[in-house]
Amino acid sequence: MDKLVINGGRPLSGELAVSGMKNAAVAVVLATVLVEDKCVLENLPDISDINIALDILSAMGARVTRLSRDTVEIDTTFVKVGTAPQELVRRMRASYYLVGSELGRFGRSLVAAPGGCDFGVRPIDLHIKGFEALGATVNVDGGFIEATAPEDGLVGSSVYLDLVSVGATINTMLAAVRAKGLTVIENAAHEPHIVDTANFLNACGADIKGAGTDVIKIRGVERLHGVTYTIIPDMIEAGTFMVLAAATKSRLKISGIIPKHVDSISAKLTEMGAKITEEDEAVIVEYQGPLKRINIKTLPYPGFPTDMNPQMCVLLCLAEGTSIISEGVWDNRFRYTEELRRMGASIKVDGRVAVVDGTGELVAARVRALDLRAGAAMVVAGLAAPGRTEIEDIYHIQRGYENLVEKLQGVGADIRLVTTQDQA
Ligand code: EPZ
Repeated sequence: MDKLVINGGRPLSGELAVSGMKNAAVAVVLATVLVEDKCVLENLPDISDINIALDILSAMGARVTRLSRDTVEIDTTFVKVGTAPQELVRRMRASYYLVGSELGRFGRSLVAAPGGCDFGVRPIDLHIKGFEALGATVNVDGGFIEATAPEDGLVGSSVYLDLVSVGATINTMLAAVRAKGLTVIENAAHEPHIVDTANFLNACGADIKGAGTDVIKIRGVERLHGVTYTIIPDMIEAGTFMVLAAATKSRLKISGIIPKHVDSISAKLTEMGAKITEEDEAVIVEYQGPLKRINIKTLPYPGFPTDMNPQMCVLLCLAEGTSIISEGVWDNRFRYTEELRRMGASIKVDGRVAVVDGTGELVAARVRALDLRAGAAMVVAGLAAPGRTEIEDIYHIQRGYENLVEKLQGVGADIRLVTTQDQA
């Protein structure tokens, strides 16, 4: 298997360009099933999750043409329902967006249930509640999700999502865009990738209002038409690079972003003593001296993102003093702390709370990436710790970070990808 070999402990400098947002791209790619036409998607990140989503559509009969490094044309006119290959679907957690898209277009869906997540079971009860509110019957058994609309199609309705859920909000929206009448989603999630998916669908002729607020109203339309659409930049990739600047005592410019999307991350880094300068489409993060301990609570957007939990924990280890991270979204998101302890971290975890005794430093070690964001956090830790850090199981990282090694080498990081047959 491949691994990353890092020689850390030195400041970096320069500019990091951010790619398209994984969690917007995966929803928009699978939403093209609703369109029955040609769509051109720009700023698609070249990462394994997106390439698997494109492979799934091809296997279903879509014509997928790569027009350039980050631009793909997808023609879903001849897509066949229920034909997503199980082995691909199970490799990409967000494949469940196919249920909303197939249901919205064909009035039925059959998709393999998503695999378990690295940090706990991935329930879809709220997705099902959304589909059932529109009149669908949904069965989950034998590892498959099967959904069927009534004879005369889905009918718009109101649905209250008991928990703020990105996936359930998007999936209900997908099923509703071609349903008869008005659908109202209450207690909807606000994430930028929900707004991006709604903007894509509206560009295709859908009628969605209120995305990004608690209440999203969708008035069903007969059909959607093809469009050329540009995916928003990845706020979590941006946040990861912002943390990297502070962790390596560097000054880095993170460009091609929407600064508002990283407001909560800028605020916490400022609280720790880093200097943040905002430009129209970039932020500059500058280390200014020893990092101060702080407390963090991860929450749905616009709160501090749960997907920044592991990266921020690395920074708290590098601060002096005791900090607390409360995880407000997932039940079991602290497994990565096992790997940080191998680098000298002192962290006590109790359920959804981690108490970090920051010592101001980390020690190079051999560690593993346990999931996507945990892996990114280990890269930050390895670049901060003096000496040689090796990170295994890096396929997790490749799911969500495009050209990470090249980007980091571009700002002076001593990091390389080593395959097992090389002498590392
Ligand atoms: C999305 O997952 C992201 N993935 C996750 O990012 C992210 O951590 C999460 O949103 C929260 O921001 C994608 O967008 C592909 P949720 P999602 O539904 O939609 C519970 C990454 O690293 N819940 O908002 O699955 C659930 O257990 C990934 O890019 C139910 O109980 O998350 C969790 O505790 C990791 N029933 C909470 O809600 C449901 O039907 C929020 O989950 C759905 C969710």
